Amino acid sequence: MNTKDTPGDCCSMDTSKNSHWNKAYTDKETEKLGWYEKEAKPTLDLIKDCNLPKDTRILNVGVGTTTLIDDLISEGYSNLIATDLSEKALEILKERCGTENVSYIQDDLTNSTTLNTISQVDLWNDRAVLHFFLKEEEKQAYFDLLKKVVKIDGFVIIATFNLNGALKCCGLDLCRYDKAMIAERLGEDFELVKDFDHTFINPAGSPREYVYTLFQRKK
Ligand SMILES: C[S@@+](CC[C@H](N)C(=O)[O-])C[C@H]1O[C@@H](n2cnc3c(N)ncnc32)[C@H](O)[C@@H]1O
Repeated sequence: MNTKDTPGDCCSMDTSKNSHWNKAYTDKETEKLGWYEKEAKPTLDLIKDCNLPKDTRILNVGVGTTTLIDDLISEGYSNLIATDLSEKALEILKERCGTENVSYIQDDLTNSTTLNTISQVDLWNDRAVLHFFLKEEEKQAYFDLLKKVVKIDGFVIIATFNLNGALKCCGLDLCRYDKAMIAERLGEDFELVKDFDHTFINPAGSPREYVYTLFQRKK
């Protein structure tokens, strides 16, 4: 745990969601998880498109145990924040990636107690997290937090199941998006820089349809 960022207050966590995700990371090894990417290439390419310096502050939300963090460290990025609801996921990631270049924060993106107090970041990165938020108040809380935390001129990468995407993941219902729906949520302060659809083949060999979006904050 980085001393700059204190841990979230566990008492305010939604314990059923928390247990659900802890169980997912306890029951299966990282490589067997339905969302496991051997290489997080689409995200890595978008991060490179941002042309940010290597000490840029990158907030990886709902980070899980993604190999993206290993890749970013290999590329020389040194100021990474890994946050998730699941302390089990963060424990596995921390064991693998260490604390030199990464700080770890357990928090709920829909009911934040810590992320809403951190210094602003240059890049918000989400793959496969937003689509789990079904209630209007959860979506609102997610985007309110994003707008609080991302600097002016900063970037936002959101990759979610697209309108042809699966209806469930990890046993949970999903809300699917296209780029216009994400743009509408972000509002006019954020400009769409790049987007593409991407078919992810999961470890079971099944295709999963994603939309990747990169926005820049203008005001
Ligand atoms: C499908 S996994 C994706 C993990 C990672 N982004 C990746 O691409 O491998 C979704 C992640 O979102 C996290 N998550 C779910 N609800 C959350 C919430 N309310 N706040 C923070 N993280 C959450 C889960 O614990 C899980 O790690």
